[in-house]
Amino acid sequence: MAGRTYDLTPKDVARVSTKYREIVTQIPVPESLHVLQDLRDYEPLSMSGQPPVVWDRAEGCCVYDAHGNKWLDWSSGVLVTNAGHGRAAIVEAIQRQAQHGLLHNYCFPSEIRAALARKLVEMTPKKLAKAFLLTTGSEATECAIKLARTHGQAVAGDEKIGIVTFEHAFHGRTLGAQTAGGIPSLKAWIVKLDPTFIQVPFPDGFRCPDTSFDLFLSSVAEQGLGPEKISGVMTETYQGGGASFAPPEYIQALAEWCDKHDVVLIMDEVQAAFGRCGKNFGFEHYDIVPDLACFGKGIASSLPISAVVGREDLMDQYPPGSMTSTHTGNPICVAAALASIELIEKENLAENAAAMGTILHQGLKALMEKYPAIIGAVHGKGLVAGVHMVQAGGIEPDPDLAFDIVRICMEKGLLMFSPVGYMGATVKIAPPLMTPEDAICEGLEVLEETIAEIQQSRA
Ligand SMILES: Cc1ncc(COP(=O)(O)O)c(C=O)c1O
Repeated sequence: MAGRTYDLTPKDVARVSTKYREIVTQIPVPESLHVLQDLRDYEPLSMSGQPPVVWDRAEGCCVYDAHGNKWLDWSSGVLVTNAGHGRAAIVEAIQRQAQHGLLHNYCFPSEIRAALARKLVEMTPKKLAKAFLLTTGSEATECAIKLARTHGQAVAGDEKIGIVTFEHAFHGRTLGAQTAGGIPSLKAWIVKLDPTFIQVPFPDGFRCPDTSFDLFLSSVAEQGLGPEKISGVMTETYQGGGASFAPPEYIQALAEWCDKHDVVLIMDEVQAAFGRCGKNFGFEHYDIVPDLACFGKGIASSLPISAVVGREDLMDQYPPGSMTSTHTGNPICVAAALASIELIEKENLAENAAAMGTILHQGLKALMEKYPAIIGAVHGKGLVAGVHMVQAGGIEPDPDLAFDIVRICMEKGLLMFSPVGYMGATVKIAPPLMTPEDAICEGLEVLEETIAEIQQSRA
């Protein structure tokens, strides 16, 4: 499903002035058009899908342009700024490390890289005994796939290399990560897909009402891969596209099955970790511990860094020098990650996400009750939510409606990222985890006002 771009014609919109929002110009801002046009001219078309707001600075739960406008941010810049935008402690940690005089370390030993590896291992369950630092989420999922396949090969030879993932899943855009993804349109370019990668239905309870683990077993069997041929099962803790969780019993049965058959269970926590779902790690909602966990996005609330954390025997499969990365544990990124994790812990941001999440989800459920014909489901936990917009009365996705909601909310000072892909009909909500209650309530009001206006204009 193709994404949409925004019309760049400046439009008169209502003035807004609240604690969290200021809209004082036409949108897009006429004076910002040259920037938007440069981006359209010099970047690939694929980069032009987000609302035409030129970010100048961002602080806490707000994003500002250079023209007096201010948005309440419900994107966290694609679920990155968990501790909040531009937090002083993170800025200071970055400055301190830069001034200290080490900007790069590769795999040469450094104290700061050791500190983050230790921190990640100490803050995760005991089973996850080693941490490998990378740069992007895709690298982390690629690495986890490699570790699972290597383990399968080691225990049962070249036959046990299969990777099972889920329909509609997203694990990144590099070859392995995209192959493992479950959105066919995104991987059409691969053409000759590796038959050792298969997908099974994701038990979201909405578009896949069968949430029994039997469905996993029968889907795997139908595709000709028994456990003797499977090295790993990877799932997003919640499916990013729709913020959809599986039932805990399903994931518990999956973990048991993986254990029994020496299959590596990988939780892709790139979106879910560091407090996002109201617990430090999203997999805690399932009461299981995976064999490997992939982290990214919210790990530093800012600079690019990711990690694979896992069982010692899996992490130690490669000899010195054969599983490395040029930018592993970049000192500045590590400083940002340590500072962000410290903020999340000190300010109890996972608990805040749980408390604010309760208010957010109550508000969204009330909205669904008010507009049952167009809101098919509300998924998510803590401060992540997916509002599934549907064609009136059914479960057929309505991507145009979702896009219009995001666009009109943006014009009113509430910023979300634009829906894309199969789940392009989901309005995704992911505020920074320090967002206070009055800001959550204000955002809910804007969303409700927007949906009411759209409904009125359609009547
Ligand atoms: C669940 C999940 N895994 C992996 C990735 C890939 O991360 P990155 O874009 O940093 O490569 C993403 C990015 O959206 C994601 O949501």
